[in-house]
Amino acid sequence: MKRVAILISGGGSNMIRLVETMQAEGYAAPVLVASNDPTAAGLAKAAVKGVPTVAVDHRPFGKDRAAFEAELLQPLLAAEPDVLCLAGFMRVLTPGFVTRFSGRMLNIHPSLLPKYPGLHTHQRALDAGDAEAGCTVHEVTPVLDDGPILGQARVPVLPGDDADTLAARVLTMEHQLYPAVLRRFVAGDRTPVLL
Ligand code: GAR
Repeated sequence: MKRVAILISGGGSNMIRLVETMQAEGYAAPVLVASNDPTAAGLAKAAVKGVPTVAVDHRPFGKDRAAFEAELLQPLLAAEPDVLCLAGFMRVLTPGFVTRFSGRMLNIHPSLLPKYPGLHTHQRALDAGDAEAGCTVHEVTPVLDDGPILGQARVPVLPGDDADTLAARVLTMEHQLYPAVLRRFVAGDRTPVLL
C-alpha cells in the first residue's frame, strides 16, 4: 500500500480528511504528519487518529530554508513516504527539496489556479468581482502554486460574501477534492478530478 506523509502548519482540517478517508477506505496509509509549527492544532488531531507526528520549528533557522528542510527531511525520509501531501503547509519549499519528491508531492491551494497563486486568494477573487471561486490540487514543482493540475472544485461567490464566508465555502469543497485526488493519484491515475 502507498505510504503518505502530510505537511501542515495549522488546524489541519484537510489533513484530517485525508487521514480519515485513508483509514476508512484503505486506499493508502498515513505514515507521518509533520508541522513547521509546534503549536499547530493539527498535530494533536493526527495523534488522536494514531498517526505519528513530528514538529520541526522553522523559526530557529531564520532565512535559511535549506537548513530547516534538512532537519525536516530526517523524520520524513525515515517514514519512507511514497507520496507527500502539503495540506495548509505555509512555508515555501526550495527547489532542492521539491526536486527530491518530484512527481510525488501534492498541494492544495484555495483558488482556481492559475488564478491567484500566493496569499489572500479569497479577497483577491472578491476584489476582482469573480462569479466563482474554488480550490485546486496540483503537483508541486519548484514554481510556487504551479505544476500540473490534478483536480479543481468550484463554488459560487454569493452576494454579501466576505473573505471568511467565501473561505468557508471553499474549504468544504477542499475536504471533498483532496481525498478524491489522492485516491486517484495513488492508483496511478492523474486524470483531473473536477467537482
Ligand atoms: C486551506 O484552505 C488550504 O487550501 C490553505 O490553507 C488552508 C489550511 O486549512 N493552503 C494554502 O493557502 C497554501 N498556500 P487546514 O489547515 O484546515 O487544512
